[in-house]
Amino acid sequence: MKTRKYLVLNGPNLGHIGDRQPEIYGSQGLDSLPGLLTELLGEGAEGIELLFHQSNFEGNLIDRLETARREGLDGVAMNAGALTHTSLALADCLAWIGVPCVEVHLSNIFARTDEPLRQKSLMGKSCIGVVAGFGILGYALAVLALERHNAGVQDKK
Ligand code: DQA
Repeated sequence: MKTRKYLVLNGPNLGHIGDRQPEIYGSQGLDSLPGLLTELLGEGAEGIELLFHQSNFEGNLIDRLETARREGLDGVAMNAGALTHTSLALADCLAWIGVPCVEVHLSNIFARTDEPLRQKSLMGKSCIGVVAGFGILGYALAVLALERHNAGVQDKK
């Protein structure tokens, strides 16, 4: 079976996962992702290649998504950080590139009722699903969901 390539794309202030406000975002870093993927997928994880990209700039994230389209990547696990709630430009990009995307959040944005703006996402509409509240595990769950989506498994049935 051909190697499936997934982009783990992180937006503003997500360059220090594990160190940034661990009480909100968790203390595990992205280095624990391969281990979690193996836990979830067993030998299936061997056929997966993860590409990582983080930027604090909106346009750079859009450029990377356009490149993902050109590269024919199999999917994106994207945590757009605060741009989730504000960036129509990033949402417009997701809407046309034709690369399946899962929206990821380390924190459970829906439970952050003290900051209602965080409960809204402009990204979700163009994603196959959303994972929020599980820290780094969320990226592994997103890749698992993308694998199943690409294999034609209909989890919503
Ligand atoms: C976040 C939630 C956003 O509201 C916040 O701006 C982030 C991280 C999360 O992973 O929980 O930077 O996307």
